[in-house]
Amino acid sequence: MTDAQAEPAPPLAPGTRPVPGYEILGHLARTGWLDLYDSWSEERACRCVIKVLRPDRRDDARLRGRLLREGRWLRTFAHPHLVRAYETFDSPEPLVVLETLTGETLSHLIDRLRRRPAGADVALLGVQLCSAIHYLHGQGVLHLDLKPSNIVVDCGHAKVLDLSVARPPGVAPAGVGTFCYLSPEQARGGRLSAAADVWGIGITLYEVASGDVPFDCDEITDEPYDGGTAQAEDDKATGGRDDWYPQLEASAPPIASRRRLPRALAASIDGCLRDDPSVRPTVPELAAALAAVLPGHRFRVVPT
Ligand SMILES: Nc1ncnc2c1ncn2[C@@H]1O[C@H](COP(=O)(O)OP(=O)(O)OP(=O)(O)O)[C@@H](O)[C@H]1O
Ligand SMILES: [Mg+2]
Repeated sequence: MTDAQAEPAPPLAPGTRPVPGYEILGHLARTGWLDLYDSWSEERACRCVIKVLRPDRRDDARLRGRLLREGRWLRTFAHPHLVRAYETFDSPEPLVVLETLTGETLSHLIDRLRRRPAGADVALLGVQLCSAIHYLHGQGVLHLDLKPSNIVVDCGHAKVLDLSVARPPGVAPAGVGTFCYLSPEQARGGRLSAAADVWGIGITLYEVASGDVPFDCDEITDEPYDGGTAQAEDDKATGGRDDWYPQLEASAPPIASRRRLPRALAASIDGCLRDDPSVRPTVPELAAALAAVLPGHRFRVVPT
């Protein structure tokens, strides 16, 4: 076996102190580029989550920059539906310390639930996502990777995480985000606006409501792609199928074909998934439409 084929180094052992003041309690997950650890913050006397590059990805300057940028953003931003970062370290390795989110990811919830959630719960989730995304847009950042595994819910309270492919509005290469969740303009590449995240909210609500994404993405990896040029990253993002994307072949089937929902809620979800970004609702319009579905809804939504 050559070095290139060798297994990546194992995760850090419990008891390791990767930076002063933090101790690893256990390994949570290894993703395409990261290791996540359940950790202890001595200063705060509480658990936290530490995100570091996988040992086999540590020399990739682009990934180091991507992790540090995410950490800086999440440390600066403050919103009840967005995960907080406590600290970011440049050395000895780039490392981000996040608040620990209790609850479960929406993807876990979708797999676990035997019955699909009630329409009002789907609408309330949508209002919360609109709130976080409205705030992010106000900070000059598009999320571009909204999907159930990037949202954690606890007792009906949702928090958005993972700003790893986030970027300001403007021109982006093809495929930035996660294959099956990409808006057509993300898949195609070109100018991206707030409408790309409206699509992201819509496709997330579609999956939560119906149990599945609107497109057939079997056998495609759901690793996110950040617009880098490495061939391996390209293959990862497209499952090696060059630039074939189901969302460029056909429009999303109406949610009513998969699940009965109140008509206004179904229309809101379908509206997010229009191919042309200019005819999707704005985030405030979507928030108001979803809030109107909630029985006796009285709290303020994103101002129009
Ligand atoms: N602050 C947190 N608290 C609890 N769990 C978390 C936290 N941050 C991340 N996770 C868990 O770790 C998983 C991966 O984290 P994250 O999405 O940030 O990494 P990623 O490499 O960008 O992931 P992916 O490639 O799957 O999008 C999340 O889906 C979630 O289950
Ligand atoms: Mg993620």
